[in-house]
Amino acid sequence: MMKVGVLGAGTMGSGIAQVAAQSGHEVFLVDLNQEVLGKAKSNLEKVLSRLVEKQKLSIEEASQIQNRITYSASTSDFKDCGIVIEAIVENINVKHTVFKELESIVSNDCILASNTSSLPIASIGSALSNPERIIGIHFFNPAPLMPLVEIIPAVQTATDIVTKAKNLISGWKKVTVLCKDTPGFIVNRVARPFYGEALRIYEEGIADFATIDWALTEIGGFKMGPFTLMDYIGNDINYTVTESVFAAFYYDPRFKPSFTQKRHFEAGFLGRKSGRGYYNYAEGAVMPEPKKDTQLGEQIVNRVLVMLINEAIDALFLNVASKEDIDLAMTKGVNYPKGLLAWAEEKSLPWVLSQLEVLFEEYGEDRYRPNPLLKRLVKQGVTRF
Ligand SMILES: NC(=O)c1ccc[n+]([C@@H]2O[C@H](COP(=O)([O-])OP(=O)(O)OC[C@H]3O[C@@H](n4cnc5c(N)ncnc54)[C@H](O)[C@@H]3O)[C@@H](O)[C@H]2O)c1
Repeated sequence: MMKVGVLGAGTMGSGIAQVAAQSGHEVFLVDLNQEVLGKAKSNLEKVLSRLVEKQKLSIEEASQIQNRITYSASTSDFKDCGIVIEAIVENINVKHTVFKELESIVSNDCILASNTSSLPIASIGSALSNPERIIGIHFFNPAPLMPLVEIIPAVQTATDIVTKAKNLISGWKKVTVLCKDTPGFIVNRVARPFYGEALRIYEEGIADFATIDWALTEIGGFKMGPFTLMDYIGNDINYTVTESVFAAFYYDPRFKPSFTQKRHFEAGFLGRKSGRGYYNYAEGAVMPEPKKDTQLGEQIVNRVLVMLINEAIDALFLNVASKEDIDLAMTKGVNYPKGLLAWAEEKSLPWVLSQLEVLFEEYGEDRYRPNPLLKRLVKQGVTRF
């Protein structure tokens, strides 16, 4: 079984190391910071004892998993690894330096992967003298619990590297989807309107946070409403992703960030972690009551849903991923109740198009323009993607 290297022992790196060790690999988890390494080790200790308590692991299995991980401050430990997955700070210059260094240590056939959320894999690979071995392997947080992993070949990546990476990660009991090296990959691109359109509905005064959250959970069937979810993710993180996707799409108005979110971020209303976001999490604070108006709720759900569907169709139209993978990504990566393309078929494509046309006509904004693939299929009378 190949040895696995993980660079960066923060939130993502420590989780990825756990997944690899639980799948039987010998793992080298490397970080510059000794304190972070110590924390990663003690956190895993706690996680494993909880799994033992719940009888999901025996004491022997738990200690075997921990013993498979070497916590180290030296990248030279990667020399015998078959793959190294990088999960360090999201900065392209730092990643370039680090990948050059990694290439000087590992063997010629070692796969070099990045867990980046927003940087182009092609750009990271440009630092390598053999860029055919670069690949994006994008886990979701928390890595041990989230089933989805996006596999992102760059333009330089060799075909056999894609196959090897996909097989390896599928063997770690993860659901893998293949996607093009485009901003936000699948999930962080297609999910944008869940936040953006909800914020816009609020800004127009159509409904308050609690009512929008109520509509999308109770009527829409989403596990969490957009404002509750943004408060979980953190408005700093969610706003930064939105801004970076907007810039990466050359400022396409579909991805325009919202002033409401920016002001919450600037005010330090980051969400649960700061005690206040769209909601107040202080002890004794009373959660606002939604206005349970079914007609209004349906109007909110339909508007957010068609915007999400339009984005999923765009990903299909531009061959970012297959129909199956786009739907899998949204159900397994962000727990949507249904795949968006399957949902569109269920609602009927003419219905989706007509909803978008009403919005586009009313607002005259590019953000609501229906995707050409949707228009084409409806014109041809095709009912499935
Ligand atoms: N946090 C998430 O939800 C999430 C989800 C998916 C992907 N990502 C991506 O994963 C990567 C890591 O994110 P994170 O949230 O785990 O960050 P983090 O800040 O929790 O951890 C990063 C770690 O990298 C270490 N580090 C920095 N430079 C280093 C170097 N040169 N050599 C060795 N170690 C170094 C730091 O000491 C730190 O422990 C980023 O590229 C991010 O975009 C994050």
